[in-house]
Amino acid sequence: MISDKQKKILAFPYSRYDALICDGAVRSGKTSLMVVAFIDWAMREFSGQRFGICGKTVGSATENMVIPYISRTYAKDRYTIHWRRSQKILEVRRGRRVNYFEVFGGRDESSFTLIQGRTLAGVLLDEVVLMPESFVDQALARCSVEGAKLWFSCNPGHPSHWFKTEWIDKREERNALYLHFEMTDNPSLSDATLKRYRSMYAGVFYDQYVRGLWVIAEGLVYPMFCAADHVVDDIPWQALQRGKWSISVDYGTVNPTSAGLWCLWAGTAYRVCEYYYDSRVPGRARRTDEEHYAALEHLAGDRCIERVIVDPSAASFKETIQRHGRFAVWDADNSVLDGIRLTATLLQAGRIKIHRDCKDCIREFQTYRWDTDAAKDTVIKEDDHAMDDCRYFVATIMEREMRMDGV
Ligand SMILES: Nc1ncnc2c1ncn2[C@@H]1O[C@H](COP(=O)(O)OP(=O)(O)OP(=O)(O)O)[C@@H](O)[C@H]1O
Ligand SMILES: [Mg+2]
Repeated sequence: MISDKQKKILAFPYSRYDALICDGAVRSGKTSLMVVAFIDWAMREFSGQRFGICGKTVGSATENMVIPYISRTYAKDRYTIHWRRSQKILEVRRGRRVNYFEVFGGRDESSFTLIQGRTLAGVLLDEVVLMPESFVDQALARCSVEGAKLWFSCNPGHPSHWFKTEWIDKREERNALYLHFEMTDNPSLSDATLKRYRSMYAGVFYDQYVRGLWVIAEGLVYPMFCAADHVVDDIPWQALQRGKWSISVDYGTVNPTSAGLWCLWAGTAYRVCEYYYDSRVPGRARRTDEEHYAALEHLAGDRCIERVIVDPSAASFKETIQRHGRFAVWDADNSVLDGIRLTATLLQAGRIKIHRDCKDCIREFQTYRWDTDAAKDTVIKEDDHAMDDCRYFVATIMEREMRMDGV
């Protein structure tokens, strides 16, 4: 079954519009229908042409669009499809017609160089809000084939985001059809699933991802953080015995250095203790990398630490850790908004617990705020060091856990 809103996607190629913009809630059935409609349109109107299928990264575009599409019976029955993974090209044939759909990642530098050399008859830009405007401009400039159409999809962000001001607000002059999606526009979501998704998001992310609104992030970043739910006096003994241990570090020379010792057990992360050193406190000296390293050793005790996740810019400290040869060092994933969203989701689900002794982390969770004056969703960069190390842990270790859970 296809919803009425989704039918409008299928009808777009027959309309007078040059572009289609679908925005709105997560899981509302935008991407899946757009890929089907995009390829059907391309196969009907063109042969021997190239098209762009763009996501945030080549990996996310492949995972969210190409793989689901080529697994569909509808696609397999209709077309002969070859997915050339190494070239990132989907070749689609029907009779004598053949078209090539090349996958690009808006945030991948290599994609920017590649797309500059292409002539395209259409592009599908999924998650366009997460791409730099320069990539999107380049992709659009490549669409020089007569009859080319542009297909955009996204979840909302800050109301001053370039895609909102340049495309959604100017849809008439750009001759774009605008469709706004809500979760109920996806007929495959059961009431239970709708409820689960609704309960997963909170704060600004509820408004942007569940209600599908372009709103400013204001107030607390983690309004769902509450001592009664998230601060614990004891860590379950099973976790201490069987959990997987890691340490996350936000390294600062002038700014504080914050590190957390985490135990992950049964899908819940426990911050067991922390090291927070602020050399700006009167009477304190700056610490050397070796001194910070000694503090990490102290934090670890005799536990078997699987990974130390370090802020990617802390080159000298990473070297120090590596030189000692005890810990495996990983670069943290430093996508701020993605990390905050995941952290908020996990807090909401009660899957992050902080031991009462982690005073600096608890204080920061209660004060960390959005910068309402900024023209995009950004946080106030004060008192955010434990927040950064938590985010590194979540984005690097918990992200994999969540994917395994199908979130
Ligand atoms: N009409 C439908 N019938 C059956 N399944 C559907 C239908 N529409 C969407 N789905 C399924 O629902 C899920 C979510 O759809 P989709 O990925 O298209 O949503 P989206 O709006 O792009 O979400 P997001 O904003 O999170 O990217 C997918 O697994 C998709 O296959
Ligand atoms: Mg999508």
